[in-house]
Amino acid sequence: MAFPESFLQELTERNEITEVVSSYVKLTKKSGSNLFGLCPFHSEKTPSFSVASDKQIYHCFGCGKGGTVINFIMEIENLSYPDAVRFLARRVGMAVPEDEKDGNHSRREKMLQINRDAARFFYEQLSALNGEIARQYIKKREIAPAMVTRFGLGFAPDSWDSLAEAMLKKGYTKQELLDAGLARASKKGGGIYDTFRNRLMFPVIDIRGSVVGFSGRMLGDGEPKYMNSPETVVFNKSHNLFAMNLAKKSKMGYIILSEGNIDVVALHQAGFDCAVASLGTSLTPEQARLISRYVKEVVIAYDGDTAGQKASQRAISILQKLDIKVRVLRLSGAKDPDEYIKKFGAAAFENLLARSENHIEYRFSDIASKYGLNTEESRVAFLKEVTGLVAGLPNAVEREVYSRKAADMAKVSADAVLSEVERVRKKLLGQAKRKQESENSSPLRSRQPRARNMHYENIKSATAEKGILRLLYYEPTLFSDAVELAEEDFSVPLFGKMYREFKELTKYGSQPSLAPLAESFTNDEISILTEVLNGPLELSQSEKALNDYINIIKTEKLARQQISSAEENKLLDISNKLRESKSYRG
Ligand code: UTP
Ligand code: MN
Repeated sequence: MAFPESFLQELTERNEITEVVSSYVKLTKKSGSNLFGLCPFHSEKTPSFSVASDKQIYHCFGCGKGGTVINFIMEIENLSYPDAVRFLARRVGMAVPEDEKDGNHSRREKMLQINRDAARFFYEQLSALNGEIARQYIKKREIAPAMVTRFGLGFAPDSWDSLAEAMLKKGYTKQELLDAGLARASKKGGGIYDTFRNRLMFPVIDIRGSVVGFSGRMLGDGEPKYMNSPETVVFNKSHNLFAMNLAKKSKMGYIILSEGNIDVVALHQAGFDCAVASLGTSLTPEQARLISRYVKEVVIAYDGDTAGQKASQRAISILQKLDIKVRVLRLSGAKDPDEYIKKFGAAAFENLLARSENHIEYRFSDIASKYGLNTEESRVAFLKEVTGLVAGLPNAVEREVYSRKAADMAKVSADAVLSEVERVRKKLLGQAKRKQESENSSPLRSRQPRARNMHYENIKSATAEKGILRLLYYEPTLFSDAVELAEEDFSVPLFGKMYREFKELTKYGSQPSLAPLAESFTNDEISILTEVLNGPLELSQSEKALNDYINIIKTEKLARQQISSAEENKLLDISNKLRESKSYRG
């Protein structure tokens, strides 16, 4: 998707960066040619987001994001590189060369347009004559009119083609309706029929305010209760969160993650404007990343049933990987937040929020209620399980705090729990070390570099590091998203250094290439790097691959640290013993 150089030059000249940024960020004059404002990519109170009009770049000193006007649009409008280029071209009325050629006037734009028009249609149907049944349902669910407007709720009439007819009349084609997932092809005759019929419609709106899809609920009982838009050019269930467009503006400082659309509506209605829901899937890493752009804390308010508890566990582990503080809310006396608020009111829910436990406490109470803690055996079983949990915490202070808490709950001495936790921890570290040793030996040997003076200490990590470098090289746009990986996380210093250099290049919109690196690397190193870049590539699932690589690198780093601290402990042990035996003799 290469655009001609001359076109890009004109595009960036006509889209003056301070002008473009100003329509999103309030910029005030500061020093020299730099303007400052509050960063739109992370929350802050004092401006650290700067735009340099002479260099035509932006940079945030707080979160480190930066780049050209194209990067800015990619980031803030959540667009791919080519779509950001089209966006800017449209802004100044330029024709995009490639679009002219194949007549592909941004399919994406078209899909957003048809979704927006469909949302308007559904919304209007709500006040139409035969919208009565939906109005009744809304009333029954106690959804206030203000919420209908805020969420843009609508009604898909009980008809086979009312949406299709309205959209065709507006000039859309059958194919466009099919592509947007709003209609389906009939088995015979080449006709189409509406996907959503006789349902309460929840538009799914992305963080820029574009309608990207729909979730439709039956007006009553029946299967399937909800129907969602299928995957389209603009809609991917696992990348979007229902109501994130509203929650991102909340002043609460955290996000409430619930399961259902109706829960979200009820929460907003009760004043909790930071509630979102994943669209019928359990939380995905992409959704978690979206959340992490806005807040550092999440309160999970899933249904109280077993499925909800399992989903909570999964969400906790995904969120923790992104360093998001997680609390878990315990609903009692109601199956979900909607029912809870209806039964006990907003104040009671507020109370529940204040009492929500962090994830370890949450696990503790789970395990405690499993065993009961009334008998000696139950307390032993409880301790056995929680020691395993606490032993896995990397932070020594946390291990101590939670050991004390566990001791308290089981009514035993803290020292006993503490020493048991450390014993289990040593065992876990030993296991981790043996696992790494066996992974480092055959058949992974073949993955060692060919250069004779080079040896990978940690093959698993090295393999992921090579993958990261390839991704960065071939798909630099993936990395604009504040990827949390640092040079120090790499096990192979050469790869870490290259990663840093590459990132530096992409920061200001350049394509990473080996040419500018010639200065900082030896010829031998450049050869190794070239070999790395020629390795296998996983571009089809690049986002997933990126996440996997990062996870591997971070986990392996942690394992390396734990092993070295375990080795230190062992040495300490030995010297202690030596001292003891000496003083014994003496
Ligand atoms: P729930 O069954 O908890 O729905 O499913 P809800 O939103 O609380 O609705 P009410 O209160 O029963 O009316 C949670 C979410 O799972 C997805 C929907 O996004 C729903 O909001 N879901 C559920 C589906 O995608 N398909 C289904 O058939 C059911
Ligand atoms: Mn529900």
